[in-house]
Amino acid sequence: MTLPHIARLPIVAGLLLVQAGMATASPAAVAGNYILTPKPRPAPAINGPSVSGARPGRPFLYRIPSTGDRPMRFSALGMPESLRLDPATGIISGTVPMKVGEYTMTFRARNSRGAATRRFKIVVGDTLALTPPMGWNDWYTHYDRVTADLIRRAASAMVSSGMADFGYQYVNIDDCWMVKPGSTDPDLGGEPRGADGSIRPNRRFPDMKALTAFIHAQGLKAGIYTSPGPLTCARFTGSNGHEEADARKFAEWGFDFLKYDWCSYERVAGSKTLEDRKRPYELMGGILAKLDRDVVFNLCQYGMNEVWTWGSAVGGNCWRTTGDLGVEKSARLPGFYSIGFKNAAHDEYAGPGRWNDPDYILIGSVGNANRISDPPKPTSLTADEQYSYMSMWSLMAAPLLFSGDMNYLDEFTLNVLCNAEVIEVDQDPLGKQARVVRRTEDEFVLAKPMEDGSLALGLFNLSESPRRIAATWADLGVRGQRRARDLWRQMELGNVSGNYAADVPRHGVVFVRLFPR
Ligand code: GAL
Repeated sequence: MTLPHIARLPIVAGLLLVQAGMATASPAAVAGNYILTPKPRPAPAINGPSVSGARPGRPFLYRIPSTGDRPMRFSALGMPESLRLDPATGIISGTVPMKVGEYTMTFRARNSRGAATRRFKIVVGDTLALTPPMGWNDWYTHYDRVTADLIRRAASAMVSSGMADFGYQYVNIDDCWMVKPGSTDPDLGGEPRGADGSIRPNRRFPDMKALTAFIHAQGLKAGIYTSPGPLTCARFTGSNGHEEADARKFAEWGFDFLKYDWCSYERVAGSKTLEDRKRPYELMGGILAKLDRDVVFNLCQYGMNEVWTWGSAVGGNCWRTTGDLGVEKSARLPGFYSIGFKNAAHDEYAGPGRWNDPDYILIGSVGNANRISDPPKPTSLTADEQYSYMSMWSLMAAPLLFSGDMNYLDEFTLNVLCNAEVIEVDQDPLGKQARVVRRTEDEFVLAKPMEDGSLALGLFNLSESPRRIAATWADLGVRGQRRARDLWRQMELGNVSGNYAADVPRHGVVFVRLFPR
């Protein structure tokens, strides 16, 4: 079947500065970008995952992601008594029930235009990140320039841009928040640890508790970074020999997510054996599980020793499967493709609480990982490449962590990041990573089984010209008639049988969901 004709909406305003709800035009227009995601309706719609994992008795925080006109009133039927909901903001806070089990509730959002309900389940047990973490990480924008103030502004922009209404919730600090030993920069140098051995932030982070309190007040969560080696990758202070004290400090400060890098640990490890490579993650995973705070554990050791086969056993919730996307080189296609191809091969290891992590979403205005002193600038990826990127990450149930500049979110970038039906594929509670149906020089086809029995299908054109791509029912293991829905356009395509075929633009994607009839 062929796609009906779709109007392509050009972007005329160029970059928009989204900050504190204000949109200001900037001169850097992005030519050729076309918007597919329909604008959210004025009536309420509740987005984001339908399930959340938490450990008994730990602090709980969740902002019900919902689009629609404000003011909006929220309620939650059947919510455990240890939790409370702010009806004006939709922020749920309190303590996770002590009793292990499943707690199902119904969220309701109402405004002057209507109401929406949605079932939500808190699974109290051992497993966090039952769906892939979503949020932002500062690395590819701020590098060694990161400050507490920039992190605060990013948190505010996550709400004012509307990203939080689609489920983005983690605001994660990467490297460079600690002291840099030997640095003559008065902001960065100094004593890395207090007299009692406790880790000290550098002067750009004067008050970590106040920073996480600011993030939490908006219903968002805070992430931090360290390395098991004596130094981080950017040669700031690492946690070697202080693992337990540092982890406790992160929890005391109020962090909810830890990215644990590798870098200078190579020297400590001694050998390249699995045992030596696993050790620091085993140690930190054990420490985090015993904290009085839920901290999602992100391993960042670039896929060494097939981390996907053991990352979950050491307590990891997600693990980078490759080197840094920002420096990935490839002959013809942009770097995210080769990272995606590598990550796609490990689908059998992903599941609720354990995700393959192909690194961040680098679109919008992003820094140059090869020359970190360069200021961020608009991505050189075409519109079709950006749709492919986001589709591939969603099909792979990858963590959706944007790492472009939160202060320069243009309308096109938000349309890529904030399509509720695309995100729903990523956040599906079944937690399956797409299977590679086909990979040739010109075509890449991914299929992801969804909890409701539907199948999300991505047809990616890797070639240099438009191309018709088909997946047969035999390829997909389905039978009979299916109802097809275009996820980017959020539009019904009618019934199909035998195969699904579409014309796909150069480096573009057609992303559909096939429902049983
Ligand atoms: C790399 C890591 C990046 C970033 C950087 C910080 O090892 O893969 O994501 O965290 O270190 O120095």
